[in-house]
Amino acid sequence: MCSLKTFFSFMAMAFLCFQMLSANAQSRNDLPHLDKDDNGKYTFYVDGEPFVILGAQLWNSSAWPDVFSNVWPQMKELNCNTLEVPIYWQNIEPEPGKFNFKELDELVTQARSEGFRLVLLWFGSYKNGRMQYAPEWVLNNPEEYPRMKNEAGADVYVLSAVSEKNRQADQRAFVETMRHLKQIDGDDHTVIMMQVENEPGSMWTDRDYSEAANELFNGPVPSKLTQSLNKSGGTWEEVFGVEAAEAFNAYYIARYIDQIAEAGHREYGLPMYTNVWIRENAFQRPGEYPSGGPTSNMLGVWKASAPNIELLALDIYHRNYTMVNELFDTYARDDNPLFVPEMGNGPDFARYQFYALGNYDAIGVAPYGIDPFHVDPHDKRDKENLDQKFTYIAANYRLLKGAMALLTELQGTGKLKAVGQEHGLGEQLVQFDNYEVLFNYGFPTYKTNNDLSGRAMIGQLGPDEFLLMGFDAKFTFRPHYGSGYGSAEYVIVEEGTFENGEWVRRRIWNGDALYHSTLPSDGVILKIKLRRTETASTAEGKANFDKK
Ligand code: DGJ
Repeated sequence: MCSLKTFFSFMAMAFLCFQMLSANAQSRNDLPHLDKDDNGKYTFYVDGEPFVILGAQLWNSSAWPDVFSNVWPQMKELNCNTLEVPIYWQNIEPEPGKFNFKELDELVTQARSEGFRLVLLWFGSYKNGRMQYAPEWVLNNPEEYPRMKNEAGADVYVLSAVSEKNRQADQRAFVETMRHLKQIDGDDHTVIMMQVENEPGSMWTDRDYSEAANELFNGPVPSKLTQSLNKSGGTWEEVFGVEAAEAFNAYYIARYIDQIAEAGHREYGLPMYTNVWIRENAFQRPGEYPSGGPTSNMLGVWKASAPNIELLALDIYHRNYTMVNELFDTYARDDNPLFVPEMGNGPDFARYQFYALGNYDAIGVAPYGIDPFHVDPHDKRDKENLDQKFTYIAANYRLLKGAMALLTELQGTGKLKAVGQEHGLGEQLVQFDNYEVLFNYGFPTYKTNNDLSGRAMIGQLGPDEFLLMGFDAKFTFRPHYGSGYGSAEYVIVEEGTFENGEWVRRRIWNGDALYHSTLPSDGVILKIKLRRTETASTAEGKANFDKK
């Protein structure tokens, strides 16, 4: 009898545990989250569906109801799905321990009713390697909330990352914010991700030279860090040589931010990331860009020291496509999915969006400064309409929006490629199973194409089937040399769109449309079925004919 009772209470306990475990698993899966599959492919899920952030970021001083209430028409014109919006420590905690969420509540309510998701940018201790978003009571009290010192011993305008007091103050406000977000948005997931701090690091000094920091700098590098980096122990200078100051700052800033993120996660487990002001700027040295941020040379230090920051994201304002692609390659790591939360606007960045999503499996992209309400007296932009500079990105998003399910399925499989027109790059050849595809730019020849608008994304759907989307590029398919096939015939080429994930054919391309086989300036999505033939004719013959 007794053992039966024990058996039943054991079963009851086991059932309870199972229920608790599955409730936990359930709540994590319900939340927006990043997932990595067995092949190392990352997918960002929102409400259980793969999601690509086709985003836009507000100007820094636009996260106020009077301003953002006017931005929704531009957002719709841009065809994007997510708005990235700063939230300011100085406004959220105007007095120590007194919190204000009025503006945040209004933002979430408006975004939800307008049908947009939000990524919130926590402008706390660090903003572009400075501390200007700290509340008055922090800014006015450097004795209590110490700043970093430069080598000469003078205060710089950056909070010290070795100060527990600073970290705890920032953390308290961030935790309160996450708790509040869970209350107002835990069921709806209007907010899908958090950026913790903004372009952290220190301007004007390569590291903190305060007394507390110097003491740590002269001590040993924490063994957890050296072990993760596979380095032998020693002082910062012994372990990191010429990069010692920067690595020191990176470690303490990463730990500072990681603890804030960890505490925030405990309240509400949204994915969290930090963005970087890159170091690849002319002759810049640490301190001329924020020293200790997750720059390309500090990725290892950050990954080892900030496990609660799920990704290190890349801000791109560069117009050098070789460097941009190199940076995408550097940040799209096995332990770091690529996300570009800030980029410029205009045609260059429209191409870079295609490269990021098509060649580096990015989980999202976003141009900076979408709203025309920038506080700049010289800014004469039309306040009603989306600025012309964003036209190319709006066109990208129009094509990409419906194709999201297919895009995320193709990412990480090697079956998705992006190409783009660059200076001196008149044609590009890309390889797939069974076929190679040639893209030429500058067609039609009557178009004065000074803005390098040619760009395309192409995915292989089957042995002889492709999805092609893009602008201002001529395409030609050909079977691989030596495959036994001489040319590719078009079986059917459909132009269409995706509505609720379903392909809707608009028309069939044939005749002159296929003779020219050129993606028009306003963009198009094509589903292309081909047939490999032994003789040289049709597609390949035409390419040769065109060259004459
Ligand atoms: C990068 C920063 O992260 C943004 O907040 C903004 O200041 C941009 N630079 C543009 O100036």
